[in-house]
Amino acid sequence: MKETVVSGIRSTGKLHLGNYYGALSNFVKMQDEYNCFFFIADLHSLTTHPTPGDLSRTVREVVVEYLAAGINPETSTIYVQSDVPEVAELYLYLNMNAYLGELERATAFKDKVRSNPDNVNAGLLTYPVLMASDILLHHGTKVPVGKDQEQHLEMTRTFANRFNRLYNVEYFQEAMAFSYSNKLVKIPGLDGNGKMGKSNGDASCVYLSDAPEVIRKKVMRAVSDSGPTEMNQPKPEAIQNLFDLMKVVSTADTLSHFEDLYNNCAIRYGDFKKQLAEDMILATEPVRSRINDITNDDEYLKKVVRLGAEKASESARKTIQEVREIIGIKRLF
Ligand code: TYM
Repeated sequence: MKETVVSGIRSTGKLHLGNYYGALSNFVKMQDEYNCFFFIADLHSLTTHPTPGDLSRTVREVVVEYLAAGINPETSTIYVQSDVPEVAELYLYLNMNAYLGELERATAFKDKVRSNPDNVNAGLLTYPVLMASDILLHHGTKVPVGKDQEQHLEMTRTFANRFNRLYNVEYFQEAMAFSYSNKLVKIPGLDGNGKMGKSNGDASCVYLSDAPEVIRKKVMRAVSDSGPTEMNQPKPEAIQNLFDLMKVVSTADTLSHFEDLYNNCAIRYGDFKKQLAEDMILATEPVRSRINDITNDDEYLKKVVRLGAEKASESARKTIQEVREIIGIKRLF
């Protein structure tokens, strides 16, 4: 039997290169080898209170981008998280043995508390429990995600093992974060620090749907410095980030060409950025053109989402029935 893969992306807007290289490109590569569930995490996106209009628009955008990236809805299950309400039931059960201390210690939670102290809601605190529910609902064992999700996967394993111990069963399996390279990926942004992410602003992100002119503009404005002054000098973070991006979108030859120029203090950032922008445009071109083709095809999107909801619900119902039985929840009469 094929191993089961589960992963999702929140519906918070258009997908960027971080989502693509951290998650989506692996989804596409994994789909023939595994039994795959790829969903749009609309319930997770509620922690930041989107308007109803924004929520449904962004869910649709992510469905379109999944398809545009090459996920095949016939072989993989593409679904919207809220179309499978069983996940909320499993979340409730798992919340009973997720502890405040461990939830408060999660790095992503601490980051959110720091950056948004006025919105520390219970949904944010228990975000990793909902994520564990997504994965365990289908008995996923491989979870393609970026580096920032590694700790959430550890927590998923903790909750699964704890459930098994509590009820003395071997019901849930351990889910592992997955990437084709040995290391989980972290794609940096264009703003000189950290990872590419919407919370760092549009200028730091290259979106899959960005037009070539927009990509050129963003990359030319990326943070850099006045250039190296000594041979083989270590790169400051902003420059290293641009080289890391080049490593992902360009050929090995191009990368080593610019590495050599940097090490010999002969690099011209204008040329370097121009090349980086062109390679990003090339790398995103197939997805971008398909986004434009699919985006207005209501009939097709409806078919995909309905089929996905059906397939995901079947798997979810079975799990919930079994979990209820294990816990001892049954109709009295
Ligand atoms: P989200 O929407 O924040 O991110 C979606 C995926 O994109 C990856 N990612 C990155 N990878 C590398 N570099 C970056 N700069 C970068 N930015 C984003 C994330 O690691 C993630 O894989 N909590 C999840 C959504 C989720 C989920 C799940 C994932 C909900 N339930 C169950 C797997 C299994 C998240 O971070 O979404």
